[in-house]
Amino acid sequence: MRPVIPIYYLSGMKIQIINGPNLNLLGRREPGIYGSQSFDDFFTELKNRFPEVALHYYQSNVEGEIVNKLHETGFGFSGIILNAGAYTHTSVAIHDAIAAIQTPVIEVHISNVYGREEFRHKSLITSKCVGLLTGFGMEGYAMAISWFLNQKR
Ligand code: DQA
Repeated sequence: MRPVIPIYYLSGMKIQIINGPNLNLLGRREPGIYGSQSFDDFFTELKNRFPEVALHYYQSNVEGEIVNKLHETGFGFSGIILNAGAYTHTSVAIHDAIAAIQTPVIEVHISNVYGREEFRHKSLITSKCVGLLTGFGMEGYAMAISWFLNQKR
């Protein structure tokens, strides 16, 4: 019998998506800003759109758990897509974790943080990320995956 090789081995890419606080409520939380789709539904769509990539998803409302996930995936994965939610604007610990790891991190925000309250205009993490996608809705996560895939080609 021939071995079954998962299709995601085709690219050899392993990408970790990390969502921070309150993003477990996507679909129910302020739908006028964040839309009405749950992240679980969107993640199923993403896996169908990018079958050649091994996609992993993690969400936590706890700052230290996000730091732990960055450490855990930051030396073996091809890319990390991070929406740190409100910790974006406050967390020196997440800034330092991104600086400490080897895997490149793309910062994503569903809303355009620069069109919102002034306290959202400052990110403590952008300087350690390869880039920032803000205001493209959930599509920002797909754009980040495409960027990682194009780097490999
Ligand atoms: C967010 C923007 C942050 O300012 C906010 O605290 C969030 C979500 C976004 O995806 O637009 O929780 O990161």
